Amino acid sequence: MTGRLSNKIAVITGAARGIGRATAIRFAEEGADIALLDIGRDVPGIPYAGARGSQLDEVRAEVEALGRRALTLTADVTNTAQINEAVATVAATWGRIDIAVMAAGIDSWASAWELTDEQWQTMIDVNLTGVFKTARAVSPSLIAQKSGALVFVGSVLSHRANKQFAHYTAAKHGVLGLMRAFALELAPYGIRANSVDPTVVKTDMVMNQAYLDRLGGHPGTTLDEAREYYLKWNTLPIPWCEPVDIANAVLFLASEEARAITGIALPVDLGALLK
Ligand SMILES: NC(=O)c1ccc[n+]([C@@H]2O[C@H](COP(=O)([O-])OP(=O)(O)OC[C@H]3O[C@@H](n4cnc5c(N)ncnc54)[C@H](O)[C@@H]3O)[C@@H](O)[C@H]2O)c1
Repeated sequence: MTGRLSNKIAVITGAARGIGRATAIRFAEEGADIALLDIGRDVPGIPYAGARGSQLDEVRAEVEALGRRALTLTADVTNTAQINEAVATVAATWGRIDIAVMAAGIDSWASAWELTDEQWQTMIDVNLTGVFKTARAVSPSLIAQKSGALVFVGSVLSHRANKQFAHYTAAKHGVLGLMRAFALELAPYGIRANSVDPTVVKTDMVMNQAYLDRLGGHPGTTLDEAREYYLKWNTLPIPWCEPVDIANAVLFLASEEARAITGIALPVDLGALLK
């Protein structure tokens, strides 16, 4: 198969659903084989349901239906032994790793001065330290090959703050710095690192009732109310991105079309950062 990622080997975290899943499918459409990594269970303290292991199997079937190979890896990105073992399995199975996409992430919310130690620590552990541990785990393979691309999934909150998201904002600003550090240190080996920084995306992370109720300030907040809110948050007259909008940007940065691009943060933000 020819494609923009023809015969590349990609590791994608958070691949059971949402942006990770959409990226896996776009990558497979463009000729890549995909290691699909996810925790596949609820993350304690997170106010919405996590992905299920069965969803990882469904994404594997979708990738295989596109004629590409897929591996499913159940691992917690915060756990050094698990993430290292998962990445070692990919390298041992397919002999190389060309691309890693760090899309695993969580959300929770509270006023900055009311965040609990647990909310703070879980957020930093998953959305910052987990991203670091994944990038660290794949780097030796890329360095050995003297090629490859890392794509970090940040957020518009890598660039600005939002009320009730101090911990998420701090973690995502951290991802921006981490991406730049990896870009700087891996460039001598011909490896690029960039981030894609979305505004709101229609995934379970934000399209769950707990999140909607926070947004509307009352129980039973509807999708129509959320649409009105987000139309004001964004600049383009579009309420939210679809996961494939983010996957297309990740695909570009992972592909050879972006061979001259490293260390950049690409907002896919419906113009939200213009405000
Ligand atoms: N949805 C949005 O509005 C939005 C906006 C900006 C940025 N993002 C970012 O995009 C990324 C993907 O989020 P999404 O919207 O697809 O959410 P999602 O909840 O649909 O998917 C996140 C996935 O990450 C997995 N995951 C969570 N903790 C994990 C862990 N410790 N180890 C391994 N896997 C874990 C979950 O099981 C889930 O499958 C996140 O980094 C998020 O912060 C999302």
